[in-house]
This record gives sequence, C-alpha cells and structure tokens, in this order.
Amino acid sequence: MNFSKLLIQWYLQHKRDLPWRNTQNPYHIWLSEIMLQQTRVAQGMPYFYAFTEAFPTVFDLAKASEEQVLKLWQGLGYYSRARNLHQTAQSIAFGMDGKFPANYAGLLKLKGVGEYTAGAIASFAYNEPVPVVDGNVFRVLARYFDIDLDIASADAKKEFRKLALELMPQDEPAIFNQAIMEFGALQCVPKNPDCGSCVMNHSCAALQKGKVSRLPVKSKK
Ligand code: ADE
Repeated sequence: MNFSKLLIQWYLQHKRDLPWRNTQNPYHIWLSEIMLQQTRVAQGMPYFYAFTEAFPTVFDLAKASEEQVLKLWQGLGYYSRARNLHQTAQSIAFGMDGKFPANYAGLLKLKGVGEYTAGAIASFAYNEPVPVVDGNVFRVLARYFDIDLDIASADAKKEFRKLALELMPQDEPAIFNQAIMEFGALQCVPKNPDCGSCVMNHSCAALQKGKVSRLPVKSKK
C-alpha cells in the first residue's frame, strides 16, 4: 500500500474524537486552529467549548467587547491571537456579511491567517485540495521520505508543501490533512517514536537508514 492509503487507514483506526473534527463550519474550524497555535490539544479543548458556547457565530464574537474576549482567552497566552481573532471576526461579520471567504486564496487575506490556517479551513470546511504543513507534517514527511532540508528555511517549506500536495488524494483532502497531522501527533512523535508498532515501518526511509532521531533537520533561529 502507498503512503496515503496506509496513513488514512491508520487514521480511521486511531484518530481522537476532537470537537472541531465533527464540523465543517469554517468559523469553528478557524477558532480551533487559532487556539491550537502554540497550544496543546488538551489545553485548547476547554477553550474551544467555552468560545463556541459564548459566541456560537462569528457575529456573536464580533459584537463582544475586547474585554470579554480577552477574559475568556485568559490562560491560553499569546494574547495578540485573541485580539486578532476579535478584529478578524469584526471584519467578517460587518465587512463580509458574516460569510467566511469561500476558498484558500480568500482566506489567506484575513488578518492572522497564514498558509497553514488558510489550508486547514479550506480543506476541512470546503474540501479544497490544499496542503497543511505544520510541525507534525514536516516530521512525518522528513522521516518517511528521508528529506534533510532545514525546515526553518523558506525553500524547505515550499518543497514540503509541494510534496504534501502530490501525496494528497484529490478526492479526500480533509481526511488526508487530518490524518497526517494526527499521525505526527500520536505515532511519529518527536522523541523516541515507537517505530516497532508503526504501520509505515516497512517503507519509512529514515527508519531503514537509522536516521529517525536526526530528522527533521531544524537550524536554530
Ligand atoms: N492541531 C492543530 N490543528 C489540529 C487539528 N485540526 N486536529 C488536531 N490537532 C490539531
């Protein structure tokens, strides 16, 4: 079986039931992705529930005071994320009639939304075939294909995005993107991954060459 088939099969058996995976609502997906930047899933989850309950729609978030938003954000850190979130909600609610941009290119124009977040919203909410490349994805691809480009470089980022797009089954971008992130989070972990139990261990280039612990390569910034 090839990489993508193995990956998706693994995902269907091992995935965590996470609340933002049970929705195609771009507002909820956007909230979750902003919260999960620099934040672990277990830590972010109660905040996701709190925000979607207090502000069920982008209009509710837009109409809230900044004080209310920051109060609910308390404990998550990186408060600029919360301020950006609030401002972006206002521009969507009052400038775009409450409708999220309908594709990747439109999403990229939102404040605080970069390639990763735009890709996550476009693929999870709209099933648009665009890659998501976060730290998990760098690690999985660098190891499986033995790629030793420095992931801190812009060139590497481009290469990994291209590879992720080539690997993506065009008819199921959402599941592929969730699967590769989940695989990096649960199986192909940064330190001491359990390669003995890995469904990819027959075809993982880094494992075959004894290089798992040295990939991905990341220079100090
Ligand atoms: N971390 C960031 N985005 C995530 C997602 N969609 N699922 C699980 N963990 C994540």
